[in-house]
Amino acid sequence: MNSKKRNNSKNKNELFVYLDPKFVPADLQKFCKDLKQNQLDEKSFLKKSNEINVFLTNFDLDKLQMNFFLLLIGKRLYNFCDTGNYNLKIYGGDELQKSNIILGWELEKYKFQKFKTVTTEEIGKSLTLVPKDIKNKKEAYFFIRDLINSPPNILGPNEIYHAAKEHLNDDYVCKKITGKKLEKTFPLISVVGAGASKKNKPIFASFISKTKKKRKIFIIGKGVSFDTGGLNLKTGVGMSLMKKDMGGAANAIGLAKLLSKKNLNAEVNLLLCLVENSVSDNAMRPSDIYKSRSGQFIEVSDTDAEGRLIMADALTYASEKNPELIIDLATLTGASRVAMGLEVPSFFSNNTTLSNLLNKASTETGDPLWQLPLWQNYNNQILSNHADYKNIGSSGFGGAITAALFLEKFIKKEIPWIHIDLMGWTKPNKYSRYEGGEAMGIIALSKMIDDMFK
Ligand code: BES
Ligand code: ZN
Ligand code: ZN
Repeated sequence: MNSKKRNNSKNKNELFVYLDPKFVPADLQKFCKDLKQNQLDEKSFLKKSNEINVFLTNFDLDKLQMNFFLLLIGKRLYNFCDTGNYNLKIYGGDELQKSNIILGWELEKYKFQKFKTVTTEEIGKSLTLVPKDIKNKKEAYFFIRDLINSPPNILGPNEIYHAAKEHLNDDYVCKKITGKKLEKTFPLISVVGAGASKKNKPIFASFISKTKKKRKIFIIGKGVSFDTGGLNLKTGVGMSLMKKDMGGAANAIGLAKLLSKKNLNAEVNLLLCLVENSVSDNAMRPSDIYKSRSGQFIEVSDTDAEGRLIMADALTYASEKNPELIIDLATLTGASRVAMGLEVPSFFSNNTTLSNLLNKASTETGDPLWQLPLWQNYNNQILSNHADYKNIGSSGFGGAITAALFLEKFIKKEIPWIHIDLMGWTKPNKYSRYEGGEAMGIIALSKMIDDMFK
């Protein structure tokens, strides 16, 4: 491309992003000469009148990190540009890489202002073209963020159920189980939620796609509307972000919605375990023993390890239906966050073919996920003295792994299963101003499922 061509559309704001040096016009080559390897600074952006050039020709990252970085670039660009309508052109990169820049831009528009008396106006910054599939992803992100950001006095188990119902109504048949029936059929969900007030009673919810198909997928979300830790009460600091403990459920709902737009050759079943983990005279106690849906006896060694208890019964239910794939999403352990930091959810799988497919989808989409092992030699850590299993590992080490091993006890061996332990929360950085609930893993998962069930 030469500079003549570039100047053709004079009256619009032009935004040119160069991923490949061979596309940089001759008169601009000098600007990318002294860019430092893998560094984004002021020199990466060149603004002149109504044209912005962005040079990303100095990046040499592996594919997953490059693709993730392009999402950050989109966010950074949104913050860098003044108000106006921008005609974005990306030179180099594949379709998914290009779409990540656009998605990043769109995501940075998000605001959660429901509880602000003074709100900030929408800033008039837009791209001339946002393709439909990027709008779908954005919608999923915004729904997930809204749900996680909603405070626990407003959003209890029942409100999560209704939000899911409203979001999925067109494509899914909804059902919920509560009360005595829940106690009988999903005893661990019932027990974990027993400490909450009447208004926030536990719920098992299922959403089955309206178009019936032989092939079945189950997606399960941990929906703890607030995690006090129960009688093993968390500290103030430990509790401060625990409205996000329904992040697995929020992501599962967002994923189910994305999948409904894919015309898959599979029936999607979404299961939500909705509870508040609270303190009261009705709350489960450390050392209580309960019979799970699977029949296995579980000792509650720590009431703060509630997520794996509620997920256990839902995993048993999903296994009973013999699906081709089970995926569970949960803000399950602080140990996963310690190992991976906020941005990278850990995942576990009992099937190598499946984990390879997820790794591939994660790399291609730039939606990070990283595998940890289902290290069988740690199984002795969750053996209970007086029951079959206990809900915490005895050593305190490898907490994300012992939690995943606990979940594995409720899956039929032959069913391919992925467990995702995610943070569901993001903090501001040099690319983005946003702090709050965050979607994680759903873009990679929807790509993987799309590839598997086309
Ligand atoms: N919801 C928490 C896990 C969590 C904590 C996720 C912080 C993200 C950030 C979970 O229910 C929990 O409390 N887990 C305990 C388990 C422990 C008692 C074995 C944990 O990770 O400390
Ligand atoms: Zn907990
Ligand atoms: Zn929890």
